[in-house]
Amino acid sequence: MVSFKELGLVNTREMFAKAIKGGYAIPAFNFNNMEQLQAIIKAAAETKSPVILQVSKGARNYANQTLLRYMAQGAVEYAKELGWEKPQIVLHLDHGDSFELCKSCVDFGFSSVMIDASHLPYEENIALTKKVVDYAHQFDVTVEAELGVLAGVEDEVSSAVSHYTKPEEVVDFATRTGCDSLAISIGTSHGAYKFTPEQCTRDPKTGKLVPPPLAFDVLDAVMEQLPGFPIVLHGSSSVPQEYVDMINSLGGKLPDAIGIPEEQLRKAAKSAVCKINIDSDSRLAFTAAVRKVLTEKPGEFDPRKYCGVARDFMEELYKHKIIDVLGSDGKA
Ligand code: 13P
Repeated sequence: MVSFKELGLVNTREMFAKAIKGGYAIPAFNFNNMEQLQAIIKAAAETKSPVILQVSKGARNYANQTLLRYMAQGAVEYAKELGWEKPQIVLHLDHGDSFELCKSCVDFGFSSVMIDASHLPYEENIALTKKVVDYAHQFDVTVEAELGVLAGVEDEVSSAVSHYTKPEEVVDFATRTGCDSLAISIGTSHGAYKFTPEQCTRDPKTGKLVPPPLAFDVLDAVMEQLPGFPIVLHGSSSVPQEYVDMINSLGGKLPDAIGIPEEQLRKAAKSAVCKINIDSDSRLAFTAAVRKVLTEKPGEFDPRKYCGVARDFMEELYKHKIIDVLGSDGKA
């Protein structure tokens, strides 16, 4: 058993309380590899933003959970080396699907876990979430839960349909589980295809797809039921068209990839939404960079030459999210 505190990590409690009061949101960036982690930490250290490092099931399968945890521990030291005296870094399990997995992360030094039992019947979601909360809270580890179902595909988490969170359930759920934050479904979804063309309208001038707005009425109703309670948005990549266009023009195939407009995320960040999950955007930045370098220099075979550019693209993306979308710069 190792406590996250020994690793220099923090949980989300204080961070979320400050974010709600201050009208901004904490970025929750997924990571699978060193370049991504370096880019996240550099962006957070340079902008002095609190940050949540997320480990998904796919990341655990790809990179190994043990290795990722030690990388996060190393990230704290790296942040200090970059001149961030007291880094505010959370190591969070994204979409934990069992008590055993959440427990193993708590025991291993994660400072926050998500138990995602949103696909289960309501009472089973409550029972499993409460079991995780009861365990995690003994070690001061914070717990995110989910009500409602997001559509889309994220590693091994997928659903063809979405169900908005029912505002009438949130008080009962939060009270009976004791969870620290609640992920809700208001129209965001995982992946780079968040809306079908049929769900969108087309801008007559540019011909580009315009996605439907998020269900802010559902968010407002949740906030009315649970004033000041930390709300989380998953599936919040905006799928920057500059990367999509770059990928498509360099031999890729991402037709009609579309995300959540950044103005909508900015609006959400000013409310009780205090954690915004972004994964797909950094995948797009990485892929665009690699395609660009390998197209421009077909003779290149040193991975540092294209992974290094990918790291620069991701760092720029993370800084933009922190400063221009979530407003968390200068808050750590
Ligand atoms: P995106 O696919 O929109 O980046 O969402 C990531 C996410 O919600 C991780 O849990």
